[in-house]
Amino acid sequence: MEQQEEGPLFLGLDLSTQQLKAVIIDENLQVVHEAHVQYDNELPEFRTQGGFNTSKGKVPEVTANPVMWLKALDMLLDRLRVSWGQVELFGRIKGISGAAQQHGTVFWHKGAERTLSTLSPSMFLHAQTASCFSLPNSPIWRDHSTTKQCQKMSTSLEVAGSSLAEVTGSPAHERFAGPQICKVFETKSFIYNNTERISLISSFLCSILLGRFAPIDLSDGSGMNLLDIKTHQWDPKCLEACAPELKSKLGEPCKSQTVLGDISPYFVERFCFPADCKVIAFTGDNPSSLAGLCLGPHEIGLSLGSSDTLFAWVSEYCSLPGGLGHLLCNPVDADHYMALLCFANGSLTRERVRDLVANKSWGEFNSLLDSTPRGNFGNYGIFMDVPEPLMPGIQPSVKRFNAAGVEVGHFTSMEIEIRALVEGQALCRRAALETLLGSDSSSNLKIIATGGASRNKCLLQVYADVFNAPVYIQDGTNSAALGGAFRAFHMVTMADKPFSEVAAKFRGAEEPFCTPYADAQEIYNPMLEKWNSTIKSLMSNEK
Ligand code: XUL
Repeated sequence: MEQQEEGPLFLGLDLSTQQLKAVIIDENLQVVHEAHVQYDNELPEFRTQGGFNTSKGKVPEVTANPVMWLKALDMLLDRLRVSWGQVELFGRIKGISGAAQQHGTVFWHKGAERTLSTLSPSMFLHAQTASCFSLPNSPIWRDHSTTKQCQKMSTSLEVAGSSLAEVTGSPAHERFAGPQICKVFETKSFIYNNTERISLISSFLCSILLGRFAPIDLSDGSGMNLLDIKTHQWDPKCLEACAPELKSKLGEPCKSQTVLGDISPYFVERFCFPADCKVIAFTGDNPSSLAGLCLGPHEIGLSLGSSDTLFAWVSEYCSLPGGLGHLLCNPVDADHYMALLCFANGSLTRERVRDLVANKSWGEFNSLLDSTPRGNFGNYGIFMDVPEPLMPGIQPSVKRFNAAGVEVGHFTSMEIEIRALVEGQALCRRAALETLLGSDSSSNLKIIATGGASRNKCLLQVYADVFNAPVYIQDGTNSAALGGAFRAFHMVTMADKPFSEVAAKFRGAEEPFCTPYADAQEIYNPMLEKWNSTIKSLMSNEK
């Protein structure tokens, strides 16, 4: 990677589930450096698997030790220093922001803020902060041990004539911070009472860089079941349903686009960061990816990974039908929102079918897909290996339907099977988007695809046709860290301009990877109707 001789640089961090990542960009938004630390391999003393520890028991608790994340930060910064070869390069970093896995919480011990503000530059971070945490292991998003607290919080809101989903943008979820905090209060009240501040993982990392407690930003704060996403304040009913004296432990939330101040002297003295290097509020990894993919109105991000995720820019508050996804405050424009829809049956299902019918080969899978006509002679299928949260009540199984909408035991060829899978997944994503945002939401759209499967042109052609939208691609492995770097660049160099100007500067005049065929709507609009009525009848049958 080319390094410029001079000029400002911007650092984006992402404390993800398995690794801590850093991306450094220059003023042309080009990546000049990337580095990461993997927890399992590089910090084996914490005995994590996949970046977390799982307790034994019927309902396991899933946690990670915040000291592990701090050790990773010590290592990451040293790694950057060594690989850059010149300490002075840290001196060019003018702004830092970042992201972290959403929903997890860090409980700071009373007195922790004082420790943060008086760190000695001659020592590692982790060595000085190990006693800062009242809860030694932080619950993370993979923890589902709070069903009781979810019920309690939902019922309290209902009794008060309100609704968690309406107020906070999501119904109660086990992994969300509110139910997790409620559980700590109920089961470890001593720890709760000794807690000075509760951070999300994003604001925890930001606090370290700032040398004092960083506020929780609105976008990541929307994943707590505590924030009123319309008024941008903690909702008093949610707080009351969760735990006592919570407001002061959370601090005031802030807009995601807030310059919080200068970097802590610890980093200035130890790593030679400039004393006026700005720290911008950190946010959740999904919101940060929206910034990293430079999404704007009428654009959706489609992350094709082991599970698929769809991010959409949402201009106005809307209530979520049923348990459909999450509405979050928008990380680059506080007057707007973003939708986050997660589909549990993504790449793992595609791989299973590929292994079964295409000799474990994507080449073969793609040539079978391309040898069938768009619309698949009217055949379609629902491929659910695991429950799909967006289709509640439908049991996991593979269901195949012919052109008349009648369920059949199998299709007449492998080609039809493969096309039914891929078209079915794309129809499912479009149906969810339209349920959330109305049927107009998929017109005039642009899709930015990212993640493992986003290099598969045959697959993306199906998305272009089903959505009748051009598909662009972006390397997505670091989109959350990149989003942090972009947000830092924005707030330091052009805060008076909208984020769309950063997006335009990054994207330039890019060409789409796939464009829809002229007859796409003719084929897929009726197919979507068939899909919707099939899903509706399956959901009512299985109730
Ligand atoms: C989103 C969620 C995950 C984590 C993973 O609601 O739980 O995507 O943010 O990092």
